Amino acid sequence: MSISRPIPTDKEIKLNSNKMIVSKTDVNGKIIYGNEYFCEVSGYKESELIASPHSILRHPDMPKAVFFLMWQYLAKGRNIMAVVKNLAKNGDYYWVTTDFDIRRDAMGNIKYYAAFRQAAPKHVVIEMEKIYVKLLEIEKEHGMKASVAYFEAFLEEKNMNYDQFIGDLAKPKGLTAVFFEKMKSLFD
Ligand SMILES: Cc1cc2nc3c(=O)[nH]c(=O)nc-3n(C[C@H](O)[C@H](O)[C@H](O)COP(=O)(O)O)c2cc1C
Repeated sequence: MSISRPIPTDKEIKLNSNKMIVSKTDVNGKIIYGNEYFCEVSGYKESELIASPHSILRHPDMPKAVFFLMWQYLAKGRNIMAVVKNLAKNGDYYWVTTDFDIRRDAMGNIKYYAAFRQAAPKHVVIEMEKIYVKLLEIEKEHGMKASVAYFEAFLEEKNMNYDQFIGDLAKPKGLTAVFFEKMKSLFD
């Protein structure tokens, strides 16, 4: 189903931090499943989401470099966490921390990709938004390769790889982490 791109507003959707937004895609990023909260927050019916590319939620404030990195990890068979600003059907936005997981069958073949999202804490959004604004600025002037290079240099300066950086900043801790992992395990 083809859906016209929403015009972004500057209105933020308040997320329930006890709920998880879950979707699954095929290996090309086409949506094959969305849970109820995903539909509620995004404003799309499940029938509008199924078979649509996941970029249906792409917010223009998101740098290409983030998705490049995400797909690069998945292609290497590695799960990845990212902080994402998403665009709802009515143009409003919401920030989520997202675990992108590769789900495999007993033979080790990829069954689907899953995304488990929670409301991103304020301090995480503040930190990531600063970086994303810079990446986007670089992308507009010099293209994505340059923004990836900037992000790599940023991590190098901090003496961290991406996993360490995002883990320190955004990985849920304590009881929230246990709850989140339990919820994730409910999806096969
Ligand atoms: C499991 C999974 C979930 C995804 N979830 C989102 C999402 O919530 N928002 C988003 O903008 N892109 C998401 N993507 C990435 C999109 O497939 C796409 O790469 C991204 O929106 C950039 O689109 P573009 O390359 O057309 O600019 C997801 C991909 C996968 C595999």
